[in-house]
Formats: sequence, structure tokens, C-alpha cells
Amino acid sequence: MVETLLNTVPGTRDILPGEIWRWQRVEECARQIFTQYGFMEIRTPIMESTELFARGIGGDTDIVGKEMYTFEDRSGKSITLRPEATASVVRAYIQNALYRGAGLAKLYYVGPMFRHEKKQKGRWRQFYQIGAEALGSDHPAIEAEVIEMLLSMISSLQIETKLLVNSVGCVKCRARYIQLLRGSLAGMLQHLCDDCRRRAETNSLRVFDCKVESCQPHIQKLPAITDHLCVECANHFASFKGYLAAAGIGYQVVPRLVRGLDYYVRTAFEIVSGELGAQNALAGGGRYDGLSEVLGGPPVKGFGFALGLDRLVMLLPDAVAMEAKYKPEIFLAYIGDQAFRQTLSFARALRRQGRSCYFDFDGGSLKSQMRMANKLNASYVLIIGEEELAKGLFKLKRLEDSAQWDVTMEGLPSFLAESAALANPSASMKAGK
Ligand code: HAM
Repeated sequence: MVETLLNTVPGTRDILPGEIWRWQRVEECARQIFTQYGFMEIRTPIMESTELFARGIGGDTDIVGKEMYTFEDRSGKSITLRPEATASVVRAYIQNALYRGAGLAKLYYVGPMFRHEKKQKGRWRQFYQIGAEALGSDHPAIEAEVIEMLLSMISSLQIETKLLVNSVGCVKCRARYIQLLRGSLAGMLQHLCDDCRRRAETNSLRVFDCKVESCQPHIQKLPAITDHLCVECANHFASFKGYLAAAGIGYQVVPRLVRGLDYYVRTAFEIVSGELGAQNALAGGGRYDGLSEVLGGPPVKGFGFALGLDRLVMLLPDAVAMEAKYKPEIFLAYIGDQAFRQTLSFARALRRQGRSCYFDFDGGSLKSQMRMANKLNASYVLIIGEEELAKGLFKLKRLEDSAQWDVTMEGLPSFLAESAALANPSASMKAGK
């Protein structure tokens, strides 16, 4: 019992201060780049009515059929912890009449999603996504631009990936393709797993989501959707690929890529990384023009993606992540009671000037405080002892190379500013006095 109480629920975990800066590094990068592209943040509730996801994502998908965290609230209403955010964003768009705004609604979000999936490396039951949705246009150029934005974020974090694209057609040409698919599936049912056999009947496209080894050689033989697109969808796909090429973005067409959500039409894509193992999808998305109508809203064209933050953080090179790691600029090491009181007021003054500083409330020996400063990777240590207080002159030590100066408190800010600007200790020494 104690064990359950003191452990996180399977598939969930704490993100601790020792690693949070990796997450913050990625989130800040996304916010900065998405803003450059004109996307604004939207925050929707973590729980929504079950109906929203059942209708939006599709009743025969794994997400809705097997993976949702659904419960009745105290008023008997069926509520679900969001397994993804596209349905929520489209709901918010309709509910708040965001279509009345100027131009496209370009929205992005960062937050937790919940799916009761089998636990595996890179797969969590509470996981985090950064996603973006562009609502209000069916132009293929917006698709290429959104992918460009996503790839520019990923590559600025020095992560290598591959872009896979496909077209899943529109309601009309897909219906014809599905007839064809059903015919092919009917001839191979005896070789397929139970899930595939069921899907062959109910939602044939979902056969492509199957991961069962023995089904794969048969699934490979199925007709490719890209060979059966209507003229409009084929033109849209060609145009989309043209915009990708014009932006210098390399891609691979994968006709099996149908994605695990029912709302997609035309363009679908995934970004994969060879370093992720079996769960190699870092991001996925596509066009979902009919979703708003399915939810009871006006016709709205939409295109977007979601990126698995947990997976991106796993891939983030240490050198890139280090840029965001907390390190105090000045560690205040004090000796004695009077120095402690003075340290409190020095710290307050320095922080008011926008400097990050740190000190240990329990003090201890100078040696132990220096150890802490090193552990925190502080840039400087300012030593505040009784003698220094009497003289009004303090020892400032740079930890990187043990260079040392005597500084007054008044001279410290300009000393630090000059030292940062010049990165030349001999030139900035004068500023300390
Ligand atoms: P999705 O492919 O289901 O798409 O999820 C997007 C990404 O979320 C995946 O590529 C993966 O990196 C991450 N992800 C999914 N499940 C897990 C998990 N259990 N643990 C860790 N990471 C996971 C969507 O969610 C769509 N809403 C994307 C979209 C937006 N399409 C259009 N707009």
C-alpha cells in the first residue's frame, strides 16, 4: 500500500529540476520559432467531453477504442483526459468563433496528453506534445510552411530526422480506394491477425497501423493509396511536394503512412528519427478539412501537427541543452552572522539589478560553500567576511580560471558588465574599484 502511495501511476513520471531545463530549452525554442511564423498559443482544458474525441478521432481507432482515460464525473457526464489536442483546438475555434479573426487562425499548444498504451521506451501514458494548427485554408503551401517551421525548430536543436509524406485522399477517392483495399484484404484474411480481420471489415485503412510481424508481408502487397487519388487530390499532393522542394525540404513518399486518427484527408506526414528505437515517430500531422463539420461546426479547413516532447528531449544533445541549464552568476559565500545579514541585502540588491545569485542559508565553512558554488556551476563567488565588510572591499573569484579581484559592492555591476563584454580580465579589473 505504501508503495502505491509513494509511486507515480505506471506510465507517468516526475520531471525533476535536474532535467527540466532540457524541456525548457525545447519549449523556448518552439515558442520563439512558432511566433516568428505568426502562431499564437492556445491553452485548452486537459479534460473534455468523451464525445468530442470519440467523434473527432474516430470510434474505430486504437486511441478511442483502447487507450482513452474516460470516467464519469460526479454529475454522471462522461469525461476524457485528452489523448491529443487537435479535436480540442477545433472545438475551441468553433466555440469561440475564432474564424471571425483576421486571416488564418494559427494556434500552437504545449501540454500533457493521456493514452493508456502499452509501456515501452519513448512511450508514456502521460506524455507531452507541442503542436500547431493552422485553421482556415486548404492551400498546399501552408502545409509546406508548417512543416518548414517544425523542421527548422528540430534542426535548430541539432537533431537529425527524416520527413515521410503521403496523401490519404479525400472522402470521395478514399471511398473508392477502400473498396479496392477491402477486395484485396478479403483474399488474405486467413494470413492476418484478429485485429486486422476486424479492421478489414470495419475500417480497412487501419490495417496499415498493424504492428504484428506476421501480417507485414501481406500488408506490403496491398494497393497503394497514392496510385488511386482523384485528380484534385493528386494535384494537391503534387503541389504540396512542389512547395516542399522549393523550400529545400527533402522528403520520402510512404504510401502506407495513413496515421492512427480518422480525421485526416489529403496530406499526412510523419517525422521520424533512427535514434528513437521502435517508437521512431517524433512528430506527425496532416490535413483535417472535415473535422469541424464532424464536430457540428462550420466547414473549416485545417492542417497541423503534434510533436512528442518526451521523445525530442531524449534526442536533445547535451551541448544544446546546457545552454538553458540554471547556473547562478554570483554565489555569495559569507562567514559569520553579520556577513549573513549583509548577504541577504546584497542578494536582494543584485537580483533587483537583474543578476542571478545564490547563497546557502545554512552557511557552513568557506570550503563547503565553495564546493556548493562549484556544484551549481556558478560563474563567480563573492566572499563576504567580517574583514571584507569592515574594509568595504570583497574578493570576487571567477571559478572558470580562479582569477581573483577585489571589488566594492558599488563597483560590482559595472565590473561584471565590462567583464562580460570584454571577456578580458585584465581590462575589466579597473572597474572593480
Ligand atoms: P499522433 O501521431 O498521435 O498525432 O501524436 C503525435 C506525436 O506525439 C507522435 O509522433 C509521438 O512523438 C508523440 N506521442 C504519441 N503518443 C505518445 C506516447 N504514448 N508517449 C510519448 N509520445 C507519444 C496527434 O496527436 C495529432 N493530434 C497530430 C495532429 C495535429 N494532426 C493534425 N494536427
